[in-house]
Amino acid sequence: MKRAPNARLREIVASFVRHMHAFARETRLTEEEFELGVGFLNRIGQATNDSHNEGILFSDVLGFSTLVCLLNNGQNGATETAAALLGPFWRMHSPETPNGGSIIRSETPGDALFAECHIRDPEGKPLADVEVDVWQASPVGLYENQDPAQANMNLRGKFRTDAEGRISFRSVKPAGYPVPTDGPVGDLLRAQLRHPYRPAHLHFLCYKPGFKTLITQIFVDDDQHLESDVVFGVTRHLIGDFRKGQGVAPAADVAGPWFRLTYEFVMEKGEAKLPVPPIR
Ligand code: BEZ
Ligand code: FE
Repeated sequence: MKRAPNARLREIVASFVRHMHAFARETRLTEEEFELGVGFLNRIGQATNDSHNEGILFSDVLGFSTLVCLLNNGQNGATETAAALLGPFWRMHSPETPNGGSIIRSETPGDALFAECHIRDPEGKPLADVEVDVWQASPVGLYENQDPAQANMNLRGKFRTDAEGRISFRSVKPAGYPVPTDGPVGDLLRAQLRHPYRPAHLHFLCYKPGFKTLITQIFVDDDQHLESDVVFGVTRHLIGDFRKGQGVAPAADVAGPWFRLTYEFVMEKGEAKLPVPPIR
């Protein structure tokens, strides 16, 4: 590595090689196991396409994505953070939606959810003009890009905070769902005797120049898998307050039970960057 002009590349690749060699020595890796491992990595690549990212999923189920997230947020890992892993399902260009609008774009089962979120800076001042991407799986357990029965961009929307630093929208209360298990990552989870479930959640990506992009998830407080999220994304801070509505619902067409979620995000000062979208 010593001739490589890029110092950071030198550091990363040299460290990677050191750890790979130590790994083979520690486990006394056999030739058959080496072949199996290379085949597994090849299958991860083969299972990845414009609408599915098996590579991110692999990193997620090993806890690696969450580790990288926690190392790079909350003052570089020194303090608690409101950030959580991006996951493989963020799409760029979700439909711009006015505050109070709905992200239900085709018939979707589930109890009605009315969400109101406030975004503040570290001093508590409301942040106006934050672009907020929201995405979630349908309660059938699939994101719209995995499910031909859902309209394009169902349960996805892009909002902008008002002068009070607030966004609001209507959706359905999310349900827990299994991560995709029809590829090599599913084989790994089965070999580990692990369940594939994520606790119910909504994803948020908050973007404003001058602030570190806040990528996070808010979890439903009564989900049975909060303690065993297959991708290790839950922290106490990210458990939302989903209150069952009493009396008249906020919209005339709500027939069954409905819920309210209120949540407050704090964005750290820093550079606003967008991640590479894991899918198109
Ligand atoms: C998600 O929440 O969308 C997700 C995160 C990691 C792996 C699979 C799905
Ligand atoms: Fe998700």
